[in-house]
Amino acid sequence: MDRRNFLDLLAKGTSLGLLLKLSPLGMLEFVRAQSSATSFQKALLVDKAGNPFKLSTLKPHEPFVFAYPFAATPNILVNVDAELSPVDVKMPDGKNYRWPGGVGKGRSIVAYTSICPHGYSYAAPNLGAMGYYKPEGNRGPRMVCCAHLSSFDVTRGGEVKGGPAPHALAAVVLEYDAAKDEAYAVGFLGNPQFDGFFRAQSQALRDLFRTTARAREEVSKATVIPYAEHTRVPTTCPVLG
Ligand code: FES
Repeated sequence: MDRRNFLDLLAKGTSLGLLLKLSPLGMLEFVRAQSSATSFQKALLVDKAGNPFKLSTLKPHEPFVFAYPFAATPNILVNVDAELSPVDVKMPDGKNYRWPGGVGKGRSIVAYTSICPHGYSYAAPNLGAMGYYKPEGNRGPRMVCCAHLSSFDVTRGGEVKGGPAPHALAAVVLEYDAAKDEAYAVGFLGNPQFDGFFRAQSQALRDLFRTTARAREEVSKATVIPYAEHTRVPTTCPVLG
């Protein structure tokens, strides 16, 4: 998949409704916010029966998984039970971006890649190295990679809270249709590192998908399933930060 600017996607009409609602200043802010965005084929989130997945059915702190943009690249979808506002996310290369906050009726639903930016461990079907940890005490909700204990704040665009990860988790951009309570995945904010992931996991992905082509197959509908169904061997580890 070529890296394309979100404007290319918008030029094809992906978010025309949103663009028409933006003032000139709002448009500038939108363009600035998407400067580290990568677009992929737009995919409706669906349930196991193939029907549109209703975001209001997500119970707080129960993580789900959907593969997007490729068959072998799972993301974690979760309702963190708190309204989430936009946040500026800093990247080491200076390509900072604005994460738009939560979606859904309560703006409490987020989705991030499960691929760790440190070493490509992820929520694999046969080993859930990356998982979701609900809030505990003063610590907010996190995604944590048990390979080397990198932890990420899911309420702040996936920023790193502990461990060796060099930058934030890439966030899935979700277009939410409030009238239908449905969502489309349209791309990522940040660096999803798919090329490095497919290189690092090539043998393991061939074992799971038989061929690299199958693992790299682009998703046109993203099936949402409970994390516990997707990952047969979950892991737990201490949460740093
Ligand atoms: S691979 Fe995730 S912390 Fe090292």
